[in-house]
Amino acid sequence: MDTNGAQPMSPEQLREAVSRLRWHHTMDLGHGVVTPGGDATLEKLGKLGLPGSLVGKTVLDIGAWDGFFSFEAERRGASRVVAMDYHCWLRSDGHPSKAGFELARRVLGSSVEDVTLDVMELGPDHLGMFDVVLFLGVLYHVRHPLLALERVFSVTSDLLILETEVARIGTRRPMLVFLPGDELGGDPTNWWTPNEAAVVAMLRDVGFREVRVVTSRPPAISAVREVRRLWRAYRADDPAPVTTAQGDRIVVHARR
Ligand SMILES: C[S@@+](CC[C@H](N)C(=O)[O-])C[C@H]1O[C@@H](n2cnc3c(N)ncnc32)[C@H](O)[C@@H]1O
Repeated sequence: MDTNGAQPMSPEQLREAVSRLRWHHTMDLGHGVVTPGGDATLEKLGKLGLPGSLVGKTVLDIGAWDGFFSFEAERRGASRVVAMDYHCWLRSDGHPSKAGFELARRVLGSSVEDVTLDVMELGPDHLGMFDVVLFLGVLYHVRHPLLALERVFSVTSDLLILETEVARIGTRRPMLVFLPGDELGGDPTNWWTPNEAAVVAMLRDVGFREVRVVTSRPPAISAVREVRRLWRAYRADDPAPVTTAQGDRIVVHARR
């Protein structure tokens, strides 16, 4: 029996089980088996500034999906890790699903807890507060970003690590680009891309005192030039440049 009470898997069984699922994260499950996710997971990890030691810390991973960052927090010594997701874990048609998370947790002998909850329903009464909260790749998926950040703030007792797509428009003025339909990456669950100034301003607005962008990025595009580009594309009835709001990813550390 493994730590979850199940029979341990042979390397062949593991390989077979992994190959039957579709993966988001690229994750080493041992025995030379790496999950074939489309996500550049290790590259992302390198950009997060996740503390090397999380000994004794409680960690909440919102939008955990296959759970790589939850397992990594546990590996770094966190005393309690809760992986939370909603849409991807609720799908019943195979992909996305929670099956990858469950397989990885079993194989890694992990004690990461799981909760299926919409971030909009999150609050300290449900799960308590957490020293470190991970909110990676989720902000642009929510229809009400400021409200989502209020929920995230309500459970963060020290550090929030937020990773998000941003629109590279403007530098000082906080702006959000609305993405109806499937304009960003062909994914209809993407709603807004804030520019960097908006991410920082929203985090301050919901109550974080210290907000720091920790990634280095290419310079922002002038908002005036971007609006002209979009207008020209619109006049030419060319949807492609309109829909690809020129984007980038940033990581922000916010402290209560
Ligand atoms: C782009 S994936 C990011 C996965 C992982 N955090 C990472 O960075 O690799 C977005 C995840 O957020 C989850 N998600 C989207 N909206 C959510 C919501 N309202 N509440 C909880 N999770 C949500 C999705 O189900 C999905 O697993």
